[in-house]
Amino acid sequence: MEQYFNFDIKKHNTFGISALAKEWISFDDVKELQQFIRKRPLTKEKHFVIGGGSNLLFIGDYDGALIKANFQGIELLEESEKYVYLKVGAGVIWDYFVDYCVKHNYWGAENLSIIPGTVGASPVQNIGAYGVEAQDIIFDVRAINKETSNERIFSFDDCEFGYRNSFFKKDNKQEWIVTEVVYRLSKEANRNLSYGPLKQLFAEVPEPSIKEIREAIIKLRESKLPDPKEIGNAGSFFKNPIISIEENNKLIQDYPQIPYYLVDIDKSKLAAGWLIDQAGWRGHEQGEVGVHQKQALVLINKGKATGKEIFELSEKIIASIKKEFNIKLEKEVIIID
Ligand code: EPU
Repeated sequence: MEQYFNFDIKKHNTFGISALAKEWISFDDVKELQQFIRKRPLTKEKHFVIGGGSNLLFIGDYDGALIKANFQGIELLEESEKYVYLKVGAGVIWDYFVDYCVKHNYWGAENLSIIPGTVGASPVQNIGAYGVEAQDIIFDVRAINKETSNERIFSFDDCEFGYRNSFFKKDNKQEWIVTEVVYRLSKEANRNLSYGPLKQLFAEVPEPSIKEIREAIIKLRESKLPDPKEIGNAGSFFKNPIISIEENNKLIQDYPQIPYYLVDIDKSKLAAGWLIDQAGWRGHEQGEVGVHQKQALVLINKGKATGKEIFELSEKIIASIKKEFNIKLEKEVIIID
């Protein structure tokens, strides 16, 4: 266990925002965390469980304890003719896990290549990209109760996965800390090339290898999304809004080229990036913050931004999209104050 006071979280959030946390406590194994909770139940104090810090915005200093479950390890739990079941520690870097799967020819995670963050965040946020979501490969999730320190195994159904959402994110009482995730990966090729740009890329390659798919995804992401090591950002700042078909039909009349995807018989998903781009925000800069030139969904820290500046820009964008399209954008990034 490591514990620090007045800890600068600059290196622990991909926006690269400097802010002080009253306390920072990181744990190397589950038992250590359980012992800690028995003495100091986390439900009784202000705290936040932090993963790779890739989907967070600190608006100022944090007057509480940041808890980091730094559990490592990838363990082969079970193997059948078709599948492997891997138990992975919450602190494992997400892309280290994806790379491990690709090297072993375990299919399912490759479309989620180079998403920043840790394994522990993958079920919380139900991370997704290029036609795949974490829920497609999650078998179960192991977590510790912040009050009692008891462990519980959440089955797939218990996780209540939705678009960038899950039981763990909805959990208002914030009762659980994810410690390990069990993924079920396929030993047989199981390609998902449904996402438009991927389909185009592989039009001439009928059966790309898992390695080729990973490489294509890396190129696609790198062409649109800034590398947080160079430009502070948290990926998509907003969720793609889900609206009714009636609302969608009205929008099509005014904006015939509007991209949308049907998600249900009576609902569709719009591209927030397109809306923000149409409203003229792409490439916009104000002071130390801006909207990424190649992808309007991404807000950036040009170097010395404060969390408050990024937050204020996001509020301006939300108001502008409401005015222009009568659509209420929701933040995908979690705001911490
Ligand atoms: N578009 C624009 N202008 C822009 C951005 C997008 O016109 O500035 C248009 C594109 O041309 C396209 C549509 O909007 O027609 C959708 O854009 P894109 O395919 O880039 O995907 P997205 O909806 O913007 C989502 C995820 C990303 C994920 C990509 C790829 C959300 C909020 N975002 O973005 O996830 O990588 O699909 O699957 O669902 C993240 O969550 O942090 C993230 C990066």
